[in-house]
Amino acid sequence: MAKHIGILTAGGDGPGLNAALRGVGKAALGAYGMNVIGFRDGFRGLMENRTMRLDRAALSGILTIGGTILGTSRDKPHRMPMGDQEMDMTDVIVANYHKHNLDVLVCVGGGGTQKNAYRLMQHGLNVITLPKTIDNDVARTDVTFGYDTALGIATEAIDRLHSTAHSHHRIIVVEVMGHNTGWLALGAGVAGGADVILIPEIPYDVEKVAEAILERYRGGKAFSIVAVSEGAMSQETAAALDEANKAVAKAQKKGDSDKLAKAETRLAELEAGRVGNTVRLTQQLEQLTRLESRVTILGHLQRGGTPSAADRLLATRLGTACADLIAQGVSGVLVAARGDGVEPVPLAEVAGRRKTVPLDHPWIESARRIGTCLGD
Ligand code: F6P
Repeated sequence: MAKHIGILTAGGDGPGLNAALRGVGKAALGAYGMNVIGFRDGFRGLMENRTMRLDRAALSGILTIGGTILGTSRDKPHRMPMGDQEMDMTDVIVANYHKHNLDVLVCVGGGGTQKNAYRLMQHGLNVITLPKTIDNDVARTDVTFGYDTALGIATEAIDRLHSTAHSHHRIIVVEVMGHNTGWLALGAGVAGGADVILIPEIPYDVEKVAEAILERYRGGKAFSIVAVSEGAMSQETAAALDEANKAVAKAQKKGDSDKLAKAETRLAELEAGRVGNTVRLTQQLEQLTRLESRVTILGHLQRGGTPSAADRLLATRLGTACADLIAQGVSGVLVAARGDGVEPVPLAEVAGRRKTVPLDHPWIESARRIGTCLGD
């Protein structure tokens, strides 16, 4: 009996999603004669039963296209926005899975998608996931697809900012995506030769950053490029967040609802205060150094457009390996990249974990060796 595969893309879009759909789909159809159905806009399409037949024609000509032909959303099965409230729609999703006689549901996405897929697995569905995100922060895989393309775009942006920063003798602070991890800012910062790189894993001291810039100035370099991860934070903010998180955990443990509400409010205030951090940092650096400063926020440019060759290759090999695993009856795993090969990793080891940049990572070591300021 031919197997029936459902597939969806969820979370933020990223370059390589279509390459992955094509890899899974073509191998499933061609090598194994399976039936493949796509659900539109992530878990929402599965809940609303909005489908797209993924036959050979639909899978043709999409390798080089950015975004996802299925559409995506950040909607979660257990907290689905319904009008002005959120509802647990897991039962509807489970029912639709069975209505389509699915043998397995392939969920392609980042950290949030891994968690949501794992929850569906706990509700009895066969799920298998692929790691997609420009943030490169999915646990237990060497790398995620989308990352290489975004890295190239952010690096090129830093390259371009050099000549204008140099000509005007300015500090240019460039904000790079990456959510709460620094893979993208660190990678692009090192590859683009940023003078300062600030990542969430290393809370910064703004005085030290200013001093590093002034030292360059005194040495004859009147411009500086600061690559800052959108999740980067000062040492004061990091300490306050740490305290607030501990207060939340303590109140939860004690079951003290009053204290919990207060601690959660404090945490939310601190998180909200982080919005606009890059602009504030730029102003602080201008004041401390008295050098004219500008800010560039790369934003969604980093996620758009055609995937790099490396991302096409990665998405294709993980996608085809996914079809092979389905044919072998494997589910409940992330199809992880391991060296040149792949490794199925149990979703329980992936869901709810985030791969941050280790403080002894070779890129950090190299950055320090060449004199890059990391803000500490
Ligand atoms: O996870 C990918 C990512 O681009 C992050 O780097 C960023 O923090 C977030 O998504 C932005 O999300 P949205 O597109 O929903 O604004």
